[in-house]
Amino acid sequence: MRGDILELGSYLGRSAVVLGDLLRPGERLTVCDLFDSEAGDAENAAEMTMSYRSSLTRSAFEANYLAFHPELPVIVQAPTSVLADGRVPAGSCRFVHVDASHLYEHVVGDIEVARRALAEDGLVVLDDYRSEHTPGVSAAVWQAVFTAGLRPVLLTPMKFYGTWGDPEPVREVLLARDWRAEGYTVDEDTIADLRVLRLNYVVQPPAAARSGPRRLLLELLPPVATRAVRRALRALRGRRAAGAAGPR
Ligand SMILES: C[S@@+](CC[C@H](N)C(=O)[O-])C[C@H]1O[C@@H](n2cnc3c(N)ncnc32)[C@H](O)[C@@H]1O
Repeated sequence: MRGDILELGSYLGRSAVVLGDLLRPGERLTVCDLFDSEAGDAENAAEMTMSYRSSLTRSAFEANYLAFHPELPVIVQAPTSVLADGRVPAGSCRFVHVDASHLYEHVVGDIEVARRALAEDGLVVLDDYRSEHTPGVSAAVWQAVFTAGLRPVLLTPMKFYGTWGDPEPVREVLLARDWRAEGYTVDEDTIADLRVLRLNYVVQPPAAARSGPRRLLLELLPPVATRAVRRALRALRGRRAAGAAGPR
């Protein structure tokens, strides 16, 4: 399946960096976040003050993203509600990551933005759908399942993966994968006649699956990428390039 990728809520770029890795030629990543702008309502403003560092998140996002990718994604610095205006064309996306406000009313809106942006059989990923501190997300997610045709595909400890299209093709792909080798088990549940897979961590993934410079750097990257981090990354790339060009 081809299509663009959209992220609602990017903060310092951790998930956006990974989404950028998934882009294929001709595809576009759009991220939408308030960054350092004012929230549009008092509850959202209180959430922002409580949860996120208030300054420099846009420039920190850009620095972090550019440490891993040559070009920035399309950045919409605004409340996610602006995306209802159709600036992300309807049906243009194959993957939408929703990780912005945790307030019920906002998440309902974000799910609607995702539904409209997704192509048939595209996947939406909803973060924090069952965290203790985010009951509004849980309410909005399961409401979309029971009243708006969202079909669960995969539940992980943190994320709900679903589609408004046919969940079977992606289920088959998921079931064919050797999850145990990567340190997970997969169970199957039925919720109101909807079949859903559940991914559980059983053991630490084997060292081979955990290592790799990019994964390591992602884990080590501090909240704000410093010049030193970026310099180190460039040096690493340079050394790799030199190694590849050198004698075999
Ligand atoms: C949980 S963080 C995102 C984390 C990010 N996806 C990651 O993996 O590192 C939530 C982000 O949503 C943004 N946010 C909160 N309410 C928003 C709203 N109404 N519109 C746009 N962004 C919002 C915050 O600025 C914050 O950067």
